Amino acid sequence: MQCSWKAVILLALASIAIQYTAIRTLTSKAFQLCQLPSPQNCGLGGQETEPPFERAAVAGGGCDDYPYFSINATRKTHILILATTRSGSSFVGQLLNQHQEVFYLFEPLYHVQTTLIPRLSHSRTPTDRRVMLGASRDLLRTCFDCDLYFLESYIKPTPTNHTTDKLFRRGASRALCQQPVCDAFATADVNLEEGDCVKKCGALNMTLATEACREKRYVAIKIVRVAEIGDLRALVEDPRLNIKVIQLVRDPRGILSSRIETFRDMYRLWRIWRATGRRPYNLDLSPLTVVCDDFLNSVSTGLSHPYWLKGKYMLVRYEDMARNPLSKTKEIFDYLGLSMDKNVEDWIRANTQGSNEPSAKHKFGTVRDSAANAESWRLRLSYDMVEYTQTVCRKVLQQLGYKSVRSEEELKNMSISLVQDKTFVPFL
Ligand SMILES: *[C@@H]1O[C@H](CO)[C@@H](O)[C@H](O)[C@H]1NC(C)=O
Ligand SMILES: *[C@@H]1O[C@H](CO)[C@@H](O)[C@H](O)[C@H]1NC(C)=O
Ligand SMILES: *[C@@H]1O[C@H](CO)[C@@H](O)[C@H](O)[C@H]1NC(C)=O
Ligand SMILES: *[C@@H]1O[C@H](CO)[C@@H](O)[C@H](O)[C@H]1NC(C)=O
Repeated sequence: MQCSWKAVILLALASIAIQYTAIRTLTSKAFQLCQLPSPQNCGLGGQETEPPFERAAVAGGGCDDYPYFSINATRKTHILILATTRSGSSFVGQLLNQHQEVFYLFEPLYHVQTTLIPRLSHSRTPTDRRVMLGASRDLLRTCFDCDLYFLESYIKPTPTNHTTDKLFRRGASRALCQQPVCDAFATADVNLEEGDCVKKCGALNMTLATEACREKRYVAIKIVRVAEIGDLRALVEDPRLNIKVIQLVRDPRGILSSRIETFRDMYRLWRIWRATGRRPYNLDLSPLTVVCDDFLNSVSTGLSHPYWLKGKYMLVRYEDMARNPLSKTKEIFDYLGLSMDKNVEDWIRANTQGSNEPSAKHKFGTVRDSAANAESWRLRLSYDMVEYTQTVCRKVLQQLGYKSVRSEEELKNMSISLVQDKTFVPFL
C-alpha cells in the first residue's frame, strides 16, 4: 500500500483529536458545568459561549451530584501566571505560593501535553495547537474550580482511588505539602523543600487536595504552554471565573542565554555557536522566533486594552521584579487584592538577596542574587548572537523597553543598563 507522509501526519493528528475527545467524553460527568444561581456572578450567564458539547452538559442536569460550582467557589479569585520557560515564572509563582490564602498549581498543562502530543513537544501545526488549547482551557477551568479529579484523566498512569504520585511538580505547591493534604510538615515552615515534600508526603490524595483548594480564596496557576493571551480569551471571559492574568516577560536575550545553560541538549548548537563564533548551518532558530513572536502578539493584545481584559491584565517584566522584588510584589498583590503577608516577605528576603551560603543555593533557581543576575546574560552571549536576536526580536525589544546594543563594547559594559525605565500599570 502506498502511504504518503502527508497521510501519516493526517492520521497522527486525527488520533490526537480522537484521544482528546475520548478523554472529554469519558470524564463528561466531572465536566458538567452548573449554571450559577447568583446573579452577580453570572451577569453574562445567558450568553453561553461554550461549544455545543458543554452547553448540552449544562442543560443536561446532573449538577446536583456534582456541585463543583458552589456560590462560594465563584467568589474566589483565579490567578493565571502566563509565562514562558526561563522568564522567572517560578519566582512569581512561588511568591503567590507563599501566601496563606493561595492554592497554587505549577503547570498542570504539562499533563495535557504529555498525554495529547507526546514527542511533538515543539510542533506548532495549527491542528496541534488547537487541540492543545481546547484541552488546556478545559483543564484550567476545572482546576480553577478545584475540580482536581478532572486532572486525573491526563495523569499517567491513571490514578487509582483518587491517589497519585505522578502529579507534575507537586512539591512546588505548599498546599499540597501541608495539612490537611500531608501531615509531615508544620504549616509555618517557610523553607519547605520541593524534594522533601515528595519524599515525605507519599502519594497525593486528590480528594484532600480538592478540599484544600476549596478552602482558599485564591487559586493561582502558572503556565508556560499557552502562547499568548488571545488564546485564553474564552477563559478570561467565562462568567463563572474571576480571572486575573499576570503576564510575565523577560528580555529575549536573557531568556536565550538562560535556556542555553539550562536545556543543554536542546540548545547544543547554540552552545557550539557561542564557543566557535560560527553559526552552525543547521541551527534551529525557531525557539527564538517563537518566543519573540508570542511575546509580541500577546503584549500587543494586552497593552491595547481590549474590553475583555479590563481589570484582568498586568504585565510584569522579570527585570523589574529582580531589581525591586519587594515593591514589585506589592504592586502585584495590590492588583490581585491580596495583602502582603509575613511569609511572603520572609520568602522574598531569603530568595533574592545575594548570599554565598551554600545551603541557600539552588532553592528555586530563580532570582537569587537577583539584581546582578538580571543582565548577566550580557557576559555569556557573544555579540553575534545578541545582534542576531536583536534582528529577530527588534519590535518586541522596543515595545518592552529593552535597549539594543550596537557594539561589543556596549554589550559588555555593565555600567550601562539595557533595561529602560518603563512603567506598566495594570489595566484597570
Ligand atoms: C458560603 O460561605 C459562607 C460564609 O463565608 C458560609 O456561611 C456558607 O455556608 C457557604 N456556603 C456554601 C454553599 O458553602
Ligand atoms: C482502591 O480501593 C479499593 C476499595 O477500598 C481497594 O479494594 C483497592 O485495593 C484499592 N486499589 C488500590 C490500587 O489501592
Ligand atoms: C483520601 O482522602 C479522603 C478524604 O479524607 C478519604 O476518604 C479517602 O479514603 C482517602 N483515600 C485514600 C486512598 O486514602
Ligand atoms: C562604559 O560606559 C561608561 C558610560 O558611557 C563609560 O564612561 C565607560 O568608559 C565605559 N567603560 C568601558 C570599559 O568602555
